[in-house]
Amino acid sequence: MQTDTKNQSMLDEVLDGLRQSQKSLPSKFFYDEKGSKIFNEITQLKEYYPTRTERRILDRNITDIGRHLGDKVALFEPGSGSSEKTMVLLTRLPEIKYYIPIDISGDYIFKVAEKLKRQFEGIEVVPVQADYTRPFELPEVNDDVRNIVFFPGSTIGNFNLQTVHRFLNVVANIAGSNGGFLIGVDLKKEIPLLEAAYNDAKGVTAAFNKNILHHINRKTGANFDVDKFRHKATWNEKKGRIEMHLIADKDHTVQLNGEAVHFSMGESIHTENSHKYTLDEFEEMVSPWFEVKQVWLDENRWFSVQYLEPVG
Ligand SMILES: C[S@@+](CC[C@H](N)C(=O)[O-])C[C@H]1O[C@@H](n2cnc3c(N)ncnc32)[C@H](O)[C@@H]1O
Repeated sequence: MQTDTKNQSMLDEVLDGLRQSQKSLPSKFFYDEKGSKIFNEITQLKEYYPTRTERRILDRNITDIGRHLGDKVALFEPGSGSSEKTMVLLTRLPEIKYYIPIDISGDYIFKVAEKLKRQFEGIEVVPVQADYTRPFELPEVNDDVRNIVFFPGSTIGNFNLQTVHRFLNVVANIAGSNGGFLIGVDLKKEIPLLEAAYNDAKGVTAAFNKNILHHINRKTGANFDVDKFRHKATWNEKKGRIEMHLIADKDHTVQLNGEAVHFSMGESIHTENSHKYTLDEFEEMVSPWFEVKQVWLDENRWFSVQYLEPVG
């Protein structure tokens, strides 16, 4: 199979992870068009409390949120996916003049953006396909708008600390000294609730986890036999996170562009982390870049939406 530059860089990142003693894959590779669709299905599962809880918090506090964002807003959303949650903001905050969804899954967000352009004639929608963990160019917006970065879904919990720091630098650059940051943050809670959210009865999360292998096969010509792996998601108390793994059910070998990668029965590929925080832990983590100005919670204190401003 001919490997173009983009697929070569995917192959390099994949091989890099699979050469480690704890094999791992970058979670951004979950998201081809199919992965984005399966993720959307996850958000509607009864076990998956984060999406509906976050949406309720946004919905109930939208007026107060609008007051914090300002009169004329350019809304930047890294990892926008279906932009479903953003609808609450786009529909109810006339202050929003620009919407800039940024996502690695270009095919998916370009379609979403076309729909949004038709629906919101007063908002300039400018989709950007980019990997937000690397430098990328942003479209120009008028000087008189305030840049607000919206990062819902507790996606920050998927990052390791080094990536959190890199990402907060990116956000601080987009926001500038006068901007703001509206973020969804999932909170620590009882373990059974957490584990159920990542082990749904219908197996949708399992399909999502395995899609990473389908995606890698399709893009790089690897020959993962997806049926030889099973989904596992458990709480890691020490690290304060849910970990998703794919466990090999048999000893076998996978070929990736001429390189053989061996799997022993029971060996895992670590595919994703979802860190959960206390309010204090989160505040401390962001404090070199941002000051927490406002926190909105649901009645169970399961999830938070927080408004932050750059420090200094
Ligand atoms: C967990 S979904 C969240 C979607 C939406 N923001 C929400 O809260 O429902 C993560 C989204 O981020 C995108 N994504 C993941 N890694 C990315 C990266 N490194 N750069 C750009 N987008 C990324 C995926 O394509 C996906 O649409």
